[in-house]
Amino acid sequence: MYAEIDFTTIDTSQEPPQEEPARQYYFIAKCRQHVKHLEEKLGRRPTFFTQTFGCQMNARDSEKLTGILQAAGYEKASSEEADFVIYNTCTVRENANQRVYGRLGYLHSLKKRNPHMQIALCGCMMQEAHVVEKLQKSYFFVDLIFGTHNLYKFAELLDTTLESDRMVVDVWEKEHTIVEDLPCDRKYSFKSGVNIMFGCNNFCSYCIVPYVRGRERSRSPEAISEEIRQLVQNGVREVMLLGQNVNSYGKDLLPPVSFARLLEELQKIPNLARIRFMTSHPKDLSPELIQVMAKYPKICRHLHLPLQSGSSRILQKMNRRYDKEDYLALTEKIREAVPDISLTTDIIVGFPGETEEDFLETLDVVERVGYDTAFTFLYSRRTGTPAAAMPEQIPEDVAKDRFDRLLALVQEKGRARSGRFMGSIQEVLVEEKNAAKEGWLTGRMSQNLLVHFPGSAALIGELLPVRLTKCKGFYYIGEQVKCHYHQ
Ligand code: 5AD
Ligand code: SF4
Repeated sequence: MYAEIDFTTIDTSQEPPQEEPARQYYFIAKCRQHVKHLEEKLGRRPTFFTQTFGCQMNARDSEKLTGILQAAGYEKASSEEADFVIYNTCTVRENANQRVYGRLGYLHSLKKRNPHMQIALCGCMMQEAHVVEKLQKSYFFVDLIFGTHNLYKFAELLDTTLESDRMVVDVWEKEHTIVEDLPCDRKYSFKSGVNIMFGCNNFCSYCIVPYVRGRERSRSPEAISEEIRQLVQNGVREVMLLGQNVNSYGKDLLPPVSFARLLEELQKIPNLARIRFMTSHPKDLSPELIQVMAKYPKICRHLHLPLQSGSSRILQKMNRRYDKEDYLALTEKIREAVPDISLTTDIIVGFPGETEEDFLETLDVVERVGYDTAFTFLYSRRTGTPAAAMPEQIPEDVAKDRFDRLLALVQEKGRARSGRFMGSIQEVLVEEKNAAKEGWLTGRMSQNLLVHFPGSAALIGELLPVRLTKCKGFYYIGEQVKCHYHQ
């Protein structure tokens, strides 16, 4: 177990072990020596800063990076004015890439003032050859570049970087087997993301994820269950199971295990109060999963079910493998089985060839399903994906106009829908002090809706009954219900 490792007992004068995770423990021990030397030189603890772009998977990966940096002896800084800065990048849309290039200029100016500063870049954007070429050519001040497949060997890469004055680049084209039991730092003490699988096999025609995250690999149910049991022992009440397509979890395992079965197992874990998961692909959402969601109250009443488009013609070009009718029928089945569920979605507008009629089909689905929230995106052309080569790319002004109309409808529907719990008492997991109002807290309902209510910070991490007294569109105002458990 990682928690029981004593790094001072690892003999770094020996050759590193070949097996994982022992090899990474060895390099953490070596990094600790480098960081110690740096500390003596600087006369203070060296600091680090991690910045995450993109999705929940990246956020979870950053917790792993943070865990290693802390194990190596660095202290967390609150800004990029630090001795080691790492950006965990996203490339799902072009604007994510632009933000990274923009921020690198700022990092360069900081590095000129702090000669000990080191800059590292990792994540999805680094899996693209043209990005790495550009960085090597024009961003010589970057010290370390690695990708998504070798994140598990960050300790080893950090050691190489600390010993080298040249840019270290290590990006793998293919995925590696999953390495368990590495250090990890959690942002919240009472909730945590848990990877259940990595990669994606779907190749939606607009999406770069399968190229940068590799093929689907599931963790074993035992490893997942063990991690969650440990988390619960350390005070976690809610877990979010993470995967690009959780509904195809376990198909690659021997023997195969379904996602529904995994949920059934996990909900047995004592003292675990809530289970969330993300993201579901409609084509793989099984009737068993719907039954399991309906049966077990620990499984949160929230389903994120990306629609992408309401037009069957466009869905086919997107290679989504369901049509408008399939999607509508699926949401009806879910609503029937779990009436209080909150449905959210992702929608892309301006996919190549999208006509006004196609777009109206999307509006029609939004009208009919009644999402609590929808994340709306302008189609972004990603080099190397089939859609990038499709004719009839949509002019920006047309796409932007559709985007605005979609957003207006999504907001109108969301506002109308979220009021449905007004007056009821809901169980809320208290997450943090309210940023805007002194003496108030912010918590989350099973449906993923936020509730603000008066209360003391000592309640953070607790599950409480809260009466919803006012609906403010996308969130509620409430008051704690005093019962004999919570006085
Ligand atoms: N352009 C715009 N949005 C995209 N997404 C994925 N690829 C693209 C792209 N090329 C969106 C999808 C996905 C979400 C995570 O990002 O809606 O569900
Ligand atoms: Fe991308 Fe489709 Fe895989 Fe989601 S399911 S990551 S949209 S390819």
